[in-house]
Amino acid sequence: MNHVIEKAEGKLGVLIPGLGAVATTVIAGVEAVKKGLSQPVGSLTQMGNIRLGKRTENRFPKIKEFVPLAALEDIVFGGWDVYSDNVFEAASKAKVLEPMLLHAVKQELEAIRPMKAVFDKSYITNLDGDHIKEAGSKFELAKALMDDIENFRDANDCSRVVMVWCGSTEKYIEVSTVHETIQNFEEGLRNNDPAISPSMIYAYAAIKLGVPFMNGAPNLSCDIPALIDLAKETGTPIGGKDFKTGQTLMKTILAPGLQARALGIKGWFSSNILGNRDGYVLDHPDNFKTKEVSKLSVLEDILQPDINPELYGDIYHKVRINYYPPHGDNKESWDNIDIFGWLGYPMQIKINFLCRDSILAAPIVLDLALFADLAKRAQMSGIQEWLSFYFKSPQTAPGLRPEHDIFKQLIKMQNTLRHMMGEDLITHLGLDYYQDLVESL
Ligand SMILES: NC(=O)c1ccc[n+]([C@@H]2O[C@H](COP(=O)([O-])OP(=O)(O)OC[C@H]3O[C@@H](n4cnc5c(N)ncnc54)[C@H](O)[C@@H]3O)[C@@H](O)[C@H]2O)c1
Repeated sequence: MNHVIEKAEGKLGVLIPGLGAVATTVIAGVEAVKKGLSQPVGSLTQMGNIRLGKRTENRFPKIKEFVPLAALEDIVFGGWDVYSDNVFEAASKAKVLEPMLLHAVKQELEAIRPMKAVFDKSYITNLDGDHIKEAGSKFELAKALMDDIENFRDANDCSRVVMVWCGSTEKYIEVSTVHETIQNFEEGLRNNDPAISPSMIYAYAAIKLGVPFMNGAPNLSCDIPALIDLAKETGTPIGGKDFKTGQTLMKTILAPGLQARALGIKGWFSSNILGNRDGYVLDHPDNFKTKEVSKLSVLEDILQPDINPELYGDIYHKVRINYYPPHGDNKESWDNIDIFGWLGYPMQIKINFLCRDSILAAPIVLDLALFADLAKRAQMSGIQEWLSFYFKSPQTAPGLRPEHDIFKQLIKMQNTLRHMMGEDLITHLGLDYYQDLVESL
């Protein structure tokens, strides 16, 4: 497969709908890294290694040296927001990064001004922006976004563009007839069908142009049959949903471990407090519902109570998010986990994670942008399940159970990279190392 990967030549445009806390943290971070002011910690594409061949070969190149990724120097950022603040102003308001760091990259950040957003308050009640496109129909709005993408590409001399949704979480929408086929969807765009949310319009515009689309929020966006079909038709990689950070990251690290040791779980109560704009949006029940669905599926899919009812059949799982302004972007989460072991004896685990939401999300945005671009150059299209590693609620082929276990997700991602580059896949069997031993027994 390695012969089909096009080189990462020229500039890569990374277009982001939603220039809020996460987006401004990744943009400022990449600029700081480019200046040698900081390290891209948490980004596998920049700092991760990958083992190749047998353990005895001791080959552990950096991922970025193994697969042909765009260089940070070649990335050009752009985006849309419902507020007209430039990225420096937006980052200053988000208060994730220290003013000193932001000032060191002020010029680069000030130069990025959001394009007018496709927005409708009925999908995000708690937001009030006025930097918004106006048009007669959702179809015209999609066309306007396509023009934005093309203009950005030309103005910045980009050879390739990718899009990563970092906009707020929209209200909960279920898949319905208008989402079923490309024809229905396009008709829905013309008729302003209320089941088509703004994030779907961005996804449509990107996919129609063959621009890879990754969805960092839990709203459906590209996770509908019409856009999956369109992605296949236009040869576009897509993926989602909801960046895997914070409490869910911990859950997908811990739950596979408990399950691996056949320990039972009776209950898992998760509560969070956070005070950023994301928290404010999620304070509204319609938007929280979207997040809740995304967060709840994780345990069920890892533990599979249907095939192991004795250990997981009675699990009580609850997730709460509370808006608490004094904490800003520094989310605090508590988990109380009631487990049981040998002969049913109960035990408890308590986790208190004082995390920084956007600090965990920023490297994910960078990796997704670079890997989505790689997938496109490798002529991979449709759902990129190998990127599940980065998502809370991984998008999979219809009818396929998503894989939430972070370790299985990592193996899948690493093997996909090995496969792309024509390297042997690693099964971790390793019996051959002991062949002499086995034969002498
Ligand atoms: N930070 C994390 O750890 C994390 C983890 C998983 C998912 N997410 C999701 O990522 C998204 C961004 O999070 P954040 O903390 O940066 O939130 P944020 O509120 O700081 O930023 C979101 C931005 O999107 C803008 N926006 C909303 N609708 C838009 C539209 N239609 N077009 C253009 N812009 C639009 C808002 O004005 C805002 O500036 C949210 O959906 C959040 O749920 C974040």
